[in-house]
Amino acid sequence: MCGICGYTGSRQAADILIDGLKKLEYRGYDSAGIAISHGTSVAIRKNCGRVSVLKSICRESPVEGACGIGHTRWATHGEASTLNSHPHTNLSGTIAVVHNGIIENHTELRSFLCDKGYRFVSQTDTEVIPHLIDYYYRESFDYLGAVRCAVSDLKGSFAIAVLCSDYPGKIMAVSYHSPLVVGIGESENYLSSDINALSGKTDKMYILDDGEIAAVTAEGVSVYDKNGNAVDKEIHQTDLQTENADSGAYGHYMLKEIYQQPHVLRQMISTHIFADKPTLFGELEYGDIKDTERIFIIGCGTAYHAACVGKYIIEKYAKLAVEADVSSEFRYRNPLIDDKTLVIAITQSGETADTLAAMKLAKEKGAKIIAVTNTPRSSAVRIADFTFLTSAGAEISVASTKAYTAQLASLYIFAVFLAEHIQKEELTLLKNALLRLPKDITATLSLEEKIKDAAKSLVNCEHLYYIGRGADSVTADEGALKMKEITYIHAESYPAGELKHGPIALIDEKSLVVAVSTDKKLHGKTVSNISEVIARGAKVLCISPFDTPDAFCTIKIPQTHGAVSPFTAVAALQLLAYHTALLRGCDVDKPRNLAKSVTVE
Ligand code: M6R
Repeated sequence: MCGICGYTGSRQAADILIDGLKKLEYRGYDSAGIAISHGTSVAIRKNCGRVSVLKSICRESPVEGACGIGHTRWATHGEASTLNSHPHTNLSGTIAVVHNGIIENHTELRSFLCDKGYRFVSQTDTEVIPHLIDYYYRESFDYLGAVRCAVSDLKGSFAIAVLCSDYPGKIMAVSYHSPLVVGIGESENYLSSDINALSGKTDKMYILDDGEIAAVTAEGVSVYDKNGNAVDKEIHQTDLQTENADSGAYGHYMLKEIYQQPHVLRQMISTHIFADKPTLFGELEYGDIKDTERIFIIGCGTAYHAACVGKYIIEKYAKLAVEADVSSEFRYRNPLIDDKTLVIAITQSGETADTLAAMKLAKEKGAKIIAVTNTPRSSAVRIADFTFLTSAGAEISVASTKAYTAQLASLYIFAVFLAEHIQKEELTLLKNALLRLPKDITATLSLEEKIKDAAKSLVNCEHLYYIGRGADSVTADEGALKMKEITYIHAESYPAGELKHGPIALIDEKSLVVAVSTDKKLHGKTVSNISEVIARGAKVLCISPFDTPDAFCTIKIPQTHGAVSPFTAVAALQLLAYHTALLRGCDVDKPRNLAKSVTVE
């Protein structure tokens, strides 16, 4: 979370930084700020709120200078306020720092610095960094040495960029468990927490490894290890992903991305399942994993829901035991891992801190790691032994939609890849259902008007309950997550059979229950659960291909092969959340308190 950018060259830095921050805003949008080397001082502009507000501030009060650093914040320590926004400085304002990550020992460092006479103005963990650099700089007047000493005192994860008024054209940058790249230009250089945010500027870069410090000037870049020894870095040259130009006629990225799903899935399914015989899963060969005894699929949020559906599909078709786990739990629970373990890490961004840490842990214990990600060149790709790219295209809306169904498709492709070695008949039915899937999703999306109408019944609800059985219970989880994420309505989901073991106590005449029921064999059971909540006063909205007479409304999605219904049912739930959010006047693409890339644990 939080985006960092930097520029040093001969052009005005402010405009370039603001453009960079716009591209990084998906990482956090509580506040934004820049620091510019201005003669022998460092000028700061910062504000609470979006980058667009910073842009107006810089227009009203321009700041000249050709070297600077910028930041867009997702608050961790201290509320979202101008005071807490970055850059933070030392007391004399000669050293400015932007930071992404968490300084876990900031309380100890604060009291150490207070004892030395330093005063703090913000509630952030970050503010210890400029003071610490100041402390060491006063001893030696060695810029690199001061940054190096300060960084060696920090515990946690961080990417930082530093300006010092004594070195007007030089930025110091450090990466430690938080990504940072240096973009190499012609007589100008850049910094960015996201490679793709450099698109249009340069395609050459240094990717900083953990603990490395880069000294960046217009003339060149020197990289040092944590002991101050020069490091010979490889230059990466790469095509960068350009973002979706705009949301076009859809008005919101989320809606555009929901409607891109048939196309994304058609591409993925035709490329991977039908182009080759047998099915290929990226660079993986069957021999690489044939000794696998245990599979873990890990991820956070929506990616975890994809993992849960993956469990159903891989167990059903490939007959291998699979555990789905939330990355932040997996990394701390001592999972049983050995060299016969395969870990599939699902992450759209490829930068989710908990997922990366879980991957590293599993790798240390001997497991093979597959990254399923939408982001080539991400940290997940660098850690994994094998990568499968979901090729959903850039997903801008914070609420994941097409990236989720692309993650699902990846796991279905993986299941087919494995199952082709053990069976044929059931698999042919699944493959044909996958081939039809883009049409079935298009048919689901054509129900938008009906879904929009149904959203009117949800708009004033304080609590929503989602239920389903089998894989539908995971779809219910994802539907509830989407709803709470963008509408701020409290939405909880339960396996339908669990209701009477506790949650039904919450049901009364103010309750609205969204029931997902796509499995013909289980529909009767779910209908019984629907009757039970209706008997207690609830209204039920049903997402199902089957008739559900007791529901006040049934969104009749197409009847598909049962195994692929998680795609169609979720598309209906995405639209339901979207229209409810619109009716409630919410900021659909940038919901409060969230960020697209969660780079702190
Ligand atoms: O980039 P990742 O796939 O690792 O992100 C994981 C979650 O943070 C993400 O899916 C989050 O839950 C979405 N905002 C949900 O819409």
